[in-house]
Amino acid sequence: QPSFGSFQILSEFGLKKDELKEVMKRMQREMDRGLRLETHEEASVKMLPTYVCSTPEGSEVGDFLALDLGGTNFRVMLVKVGEDEERVWKVETKNQMYSIPEDAMTGTAQMLFDYIAECMSDFLDKHHIKHKKLPLGFTFSFPVRHEDIDKGILLNWTKGFKASGAEGNNIVGLLRDAIKRRGDFEMDVVAMVNDTVATMISCYYEDRSCEVGMIVGTGCNACYMEEMKTVELVEGEEGRMCVNTEWGAFGNNGELEEFRLEYDKVVDETSINPGQQLYEKLISGKYMGELVRLVLIKLVNEDLLFNGEASELLKTRGSFETRYVSQMESDTGDRKQIYNILSSLGVLPSELDCDIVRQVCESVSTRSAHMCGAGLAAVINLMRERRSQEALKITVGIDGSVYKLHPCFRDRFHKIVRDLTPHCEITFIQSEEGSGRGAALISAVACKMATSML
Ligand code: BG6
Ligand code: GLC
Repeated sequence: QPSFGSFQILSEFGLKKDELKEVMKRMQREMDRGLRLETHEEASVKMLPTYVCSTPEGSEVGDFLALDLGGTNFRVMLVKVGEDEERVWKVETKNQMYSIPEDAMTGTAQMLFDYIAECMSDFLDKHHIKHKKLPLGFTFSFPVRHEDIDKGILLNWTKGFKASGAEGNNIVGLLRDAIKRRGDFEMDVVAMVNDTVATMISCYYEDRSCEVGMIVGTGCNACYMEEMKTVELVEGEEGRMCVNTEWGAFGNNGELEEFRLEYDKVVDETSINPGQQLYEKLISGKYMGELVRLVLIKLVNEDLLFNGEASELLKTRGSFETRYVSQMESDTGDRKQIYNILSSLGVLPSELDCDIVRQVCESVSTRSAHMCGAGLAAVINLMRERRSQEALKITVGIDGSVYKLHPCFRDRFHKIVRDLTPHCEITFIQSEEGSGRGAALISAVACKMATSML
């Protein structure tokens, strides 16, 4: 049995229902401030209008190119959008993954976008479609202040990107310039969307109640359909517009101080963007493995683990990958998987060590699911209030490696969300290839409507 000492250290990760309700309440308050003109600037949750509006009816058909930048992988896709009598349908035809070199992520914006254009050029060559001027939908998974569906400035990078000269600039403009610089193909950039939005739209075509999109992967974020009249940053009163909450930045004004532990502070201080994305840093895959590692080191220092000795590798920042958390918690009980991972990190664990390490993983990933659940509950309860409905029936489209690959995240997350949202009936759908399909579908609608609302 793990000792009282380790139990005490891990108990700090537990969140009571009342505490989660408090997180939810504060999140709602920030969401409200983000929507209002007079408080928007200072709000930590930016609630960015996306110019994706309610119920697109009808769309262009044909081939669309889609780009997906900001998750684990950068992808270029060719998506066919077609139509039958009942609804728009879509078939993804081609999909290629490219890795973004570190220097493109952290160099200049020109380097990054030249690299993106190079990948596009390669993709078009491979599929013999370089001569076609295709419409393009760009899933760009960062906080963007839109002026229209195809125009918006990057507010700040998140998730380890840092390319200089992009913040404050129109991202579609940077992409168009890079394509022009290459000069070997043409492209009609018609829409730029956040990954949460692409995810929501891709699920919307399967389930018309899907009005929330969410990602729990490298980063964590959500979008939802808000009443136009409460989106004060955009004129107009009728219908709904999708709002990208950018809730990852919740906590940047101190709203999470009593929930942040010493490990969270280290993760933040050693990150590329200290003081920013504090809520995201409690939850998402970019930080989860490192949080576990920091707790393990604490237990070693307290002489509660590995006989008080850690390997050099385990002492190295980033050595405990987030996928190990999933693997540890997938262990069937014979501790083999746990033992193997720990050996690969240079420590020789006892059975008790293995059990403690598994509990550390469970504590960190459960807190992640609960914190994130409080966020989604905030969104759903707010929607129910807005719509003055006795019971809200709503579908949430979700994507991201933590949600998809962790063995228990999803169940813990669903449970807490349902606990915190009485009088709501929630369906969760996992999005498949959401960004490609979502971006293409939004582009297809944008093409049809030209400049009018979707
Ligand atoms: C992918 C989507 O499936 O999930 C991306 O296509 C999204 O648009 C990503 O950003 C999020 O998950 P992760 O784990 O790759 O960050
Ligand atoms: C980060 C980004 C956000 C994105 C999320 C998931 O929080 O700022 O735009 O949606 O990661 O990828």
